[in-house]
Amino acid sequence: MRNFILGVVITIMVLLIAGLGAALLGFVPTNANTAPPKLEEQIAMSALDASMERHAPHVNSPVPPTDENLIEGIKIYTMNCALCHGGIDRQPSTLEKSLYPPPPNLILHPLDDPDWHVFYAISTGVRYTGMPAWDKTLSAPDMWKLTAFLTRIDKLPPAVQDYWKKSSSVNPPTGGQEGHSGHKM
Ligand code: HEC
Repeated sequence: MRNFILGVVITIMVLLIAGLGAALLGFVPTNANTAPPKLEEQIAMSALDASMERHAPHVNSPVPPTDENLIEGIKIYTMNCALCHGGIDRQPSTLEKSLYPPPPNLILHPLDDPDWHVFYAISTGVRYTGMPAWDKTLSAPDMWKLTAFLTRIDKLPPAVQDYWKKSSSVNPPTGGQEGHSGHKM
């Protein structure tokens, strides 16, 4: 039994050293201008979900989804997020194919995660990806306004839809016809 455990430990150490060696010798690619393999994406997304489930406080939003707050959410989104996640003109984002992993288009494929999950993702960012932590830049109420907008993209109240139309000359999604991406991209 002792020999068996010793064998396992040695195998793990050899694998770790081989992995580290391969990385230090330059065998691990660092380019971001390519799409991740499906398996890598699935494992990473499952790990992200599990980590959020464990770490994120399961709180309710203190900011009510009023017309005013939702419109504020659109404005903050357009200024800070559209570059990566797509604008309300519903075009592909500027950086859609320039990050590894690629940023999901949150306008074309609205999230169907709970508010606490979206708020946590915004405020703490996603490590090893291009997703910044916004808690150093945006106030908590602003991040809740973003959350309110992002979780209601295809069911916005009429006044907010009017604002969307006026500021982008494109109709907002009204639900039904488009698939939700959740956090699977
Ligand atoms: C520089 C590019 C970039 C900017 C700017 C950016 N994001 Fe992201 N965001 C990403 C990337 C890349 C991911 C995908 C991370 C992954 O694959 O897990 C992501 C993921 C997310 C997710 C999903 C996390 C999950 O659970 O799947 C949310 C929500 C999000 N971003 C919201 C925002 C908001 C809101 C803003 C603006 C305040 C913003 N992002 C700005 C790159 C960006």
